[in-house]
Amino acid sequence: MTSGLLAVSYIGASILFILSLGGLSHQETARRGNVYGIIGMAIAIVATAMTGNVTNYAVLIPAVTVGGILGVTIALRVEMTQMPQLVAMLNSMVGLAAVLVAIASHLNPSFELTRAELIILDVEIYLSVLIGIVTFTGSVVAFAKLQALISGRPLLLPGRNWLNLLVAVALLWLAYEFLLAGNGAVPGPSLLGPISQNPALLPLGSFGLLLILVVIVLGGLLGIHFVLAIGGADMPVVVSVLNSYSGWAAAATGFMLGNDLLIVTGALVGSSGAILSYIMCRAMNRNFVSVILGGFGTEGGTITAGIDGEAVATTHEETADLLANAKNVIIVPGYGMAVAQAQNAVSDVVEKLRAGGTNVRFGIHPVAGRLPGHMNVLLADAKVPYDIVLEMDDINEDFPETDAVLVIGANDIVNPGAAEDPNSPIAGMPILEVWNARTVVVLKRSMATGYAGVENPLFFKENSRMLFGDAKESVQTVLSHLTN
Ligand code: TAP
Repeated sequence: MTSGLLAVSYIGASILFILSLGGLSHQETARRGNVYGIIGMAIAIVATAMTGNVTNYAVLIPAVTVGGILGVTIALRVEMTQMPQLVAMLNSMVGLAAVLVAIASHLNPSFELTRAELIILDVEIYLSVLIGIVTFTGSVVAFAKLQALISGRPLLLPGRNWLNLLVAVALLWLAYEFLLAGNGAVPGPSLLGPISQNPALLPLGSFGLLLILVVIVLGGLLGIHFVLAIGGADMPVVVSVLNSYSGWAAAATGFMLGNDLLIVTGALVGSSGAILSYIMCRAMNRNFVSVILGGFGTEGGTITAGIDGEAVATTHEETADLLANAKNVIIVPGYGMAVAQAQNAVSDVVEKLRAGGTNVRFGIHPVAGRLPGHMNVLLADAKVPYDIVLEMDDINEDFPETDAVLVIGANDIVNPGAAEDPNSPIAGMPILEVWNARTVVVLKRSMATGYAGVENPLFFKENSRMLFGDAKESVQTVLSHLTN
């Protein structure tokens, strides 16, 4: 492939990736965004495979085939609730790839370099190995936590921040030693002179490789410790942070290989992951630094005393009556709707009510569920019209004029304690103010807390009713009473 055609392909792929990100930010355009991404990636792979640098097709073609089949199989099988695990697993692959490519570049710098270029290459190799290995081990631990293979509780070693600092200082020193081993700090030929003038300065020495292995061990431990210290509730933020790291690792690899497209793609993933992490932290009212330092998050429990009032249970018949007589209904879905896979039943209820002239809308909290856009994806999947699915800020003021609210498997995102109790662990988190409606029915299985492990005074409000049971079964039963 000519360099002109390659450049055009890379620019085309970059534009498609940007369009893809833009498309994915809105429900209506998400499918189109996905298609842009697929086409962009197909162009990127074909164009890169046809550059002069790639010669070993006997390895490349089977590898791409096996990788492609594995990717399609996993993507087809994965449940929506397992999406964070899938992202964590894919991030770990990017991290590992960055480490392996960096080692290969160190062992075989395949192009003619000046001394200055070699220093830059060494810096890129070092960064690729370090960011790549932290991403790899951190993502593997995140996967294990999300998959409940290990406990979601934060591991709080005594002096853990000092431990991290010590490892960070050691890694800085190793970076200096690595440059020294390559050629960086040794007085030698002029910066612009070719390194071939002084073969002794080539980075092929086994000492450089030894240093890389030490970085792999230390960086790997840092990644493990970093994620072990973070509680289950913050895990989706961590996955997003690791996603960002994987982007930066890919960008460093792009610099190392002189591949512009990899640099652009890595920067897109790195920056969008960082922005997403920030947005998630803001929506959870969590400080980004405190998430990274770890220690927050329990695994849920049961509500304890300390809230005045009594929770009142209701029945499916009463709930159906309430809905049938309401003019305005708002549905607030949460993680429990995803667990119960209740979205299709909910969609049927909505269709039925709308057919009878009821104004039904959804209120979506930015961190409802366990991953960004979780509820939107489920509702779109169940064919709920986009125009009745509203963001928290667009619907919060409408609750006082609402006759009935159905809270389906949501807990933290409707907890009035966040607004009313300054001592609540989620104090200050913006929430859907459902209690301002005339009647609120909460569908969940028990009085257990949500992911933040915080009691919910909503259940004890005078206008609240609890409809206990699995969300899907409850909604289906309510629907059967609506039909009769
Ligand atoms: P949660 O507060 O986790 O509450 C979910 C509730 O669903 C639970 O109290 C549970 O009560 C109920 N439930 C579980 N399975 C059910 C089933 N089969 N049928 C009926 N109910 C069921 O969820 P939320 O309100 O969506 O809030 C999300 C939480 O996750 C927030 O704390 C948020 O900060 C955190 N978080 C979210 C994200 C993103 S990006 N979405 C990222 C990080 C953290 P029972 O056990 O009694 O049924």
